Amino acid sequence: MSIKVISSLKDNFADEVLQYFSKDEPVALPTETVYGLAAPVSRLKAVARIYEIKERPSFNPLIVHVKEDWDLSQWAEINEIEKKLISKFWPGPLSILLKKKNIPDLVTAASDKVVLRAPSHPLFRKILTKLKEPLVAPSANSSTKLSPTTSIAVAEDLGSKLKAVLEGGRCEWGVESTIVEVQNGKVVILREGAVSKEQLEAAGFEISTGAASTHTPGSQLKHYAPSVPLYFFDSEEEWKSKRGKDILLLKVLDSDSPYAENVEVLSSSNDLKEAASRLFDFLRRAQDQYKEIRVLKTVDQLLGRAINDRLLRASTRS
Ligand code: TXA
Ligand code: MG
Repeated sequence: MSIKVISSLKDNFADEVLQYFSKDEPVALPTETVYGLAAPVSRLKAVARIYEIKERPSFNPLIVHVKEDWDLSQWAEINEIEKKLISKFWPGPLSILLKKKNIPDLVTAASDKVVLRAPSHPLFRKILTKLKEPLVAPSANSSTKLSPTTSIAVAEDLGSKLKAVLEGGRCEWGVESTIVEVQNGKVVILREGAVSKEQLEAAGFEISTGAASTHTPGSQLKHYAPSVPLYFFDSEEEWKSKRGKDILLLKVLDSDSPYAENVEVLSSSNDLKEAASRLFDFLRRAQDQYKEIRVLKTVDQLLGRAINDRLLRASTRS
């Protein structure tokens, strides 16, 4: 693996990242959700490299990362409700689909809309401040595979194709941002993620319950897949009906231990945030150790919804 791991302890780490960009090389950067594969929005060669490195289909657009205090009207049309979402949730893991302005078609896969997000991660923000330009950044994994929550996961997946990753430790949330769009005054959740429906409601937004008329091309059903079969169960009986030394039985939450052999729990303190932050890294390691992963569905509330969504998409179906 030839990938360079850039230490964020060095004073000039941002300059080093910018040097790669100036050579049209994307760099993987930590965010509060997952690591992103980043390039400046105007550097189309580097943006094209992102599609190539991820083997991402060209119809799947990229999220554009900004700072909340920039003049955002340069890049999108923003109405009053969208402004309120921004003021309540940015910086943080909420992405908003907006009518685009001055964003290259390569970035949005020719759509006239763009997803904007202002990450809260201090290292990512330092790069944005120094660059003074938005960064496109899809999750830094091969298309359809598990999203990376550590620099090691990035290096293992993309190390032979990518020049550099900025070390930022483990990501706080471990699942991607929530993507929303405002339609007819209501908030439509296009992708479940780190900001829950309950949080949006508590902040005073009306959530649309109907089927979304817009879709996010990257949310094709098959996604986040480990390299061994993963089965996702509603029923505890079915979940534990098959056991063996090569089979992992995974539960998202529990506080009743001890557990039988090969049963693992993502959070034994019943903490959804802890479970989410461990999810992808756990699956990444489990795929090397087991021949089959059986997961029991968790509560359909708060972050549980994003966890269930990722597990359903990761699962093997006929
Ligand atoms: O937390 C996150 O959002 C991470 C970090 C790195 O910021 N990024 C991320 O990007 O998850 P990605 O590319 O893995 O997922 C973005 C999703 C994809 O499903 C894509 O199809 C959708 O957002 N998307 C992006 N731009 C869009 C657009 N203009 N219209 C519709 N969907 C869009
Ligand atoms: Mg992704």
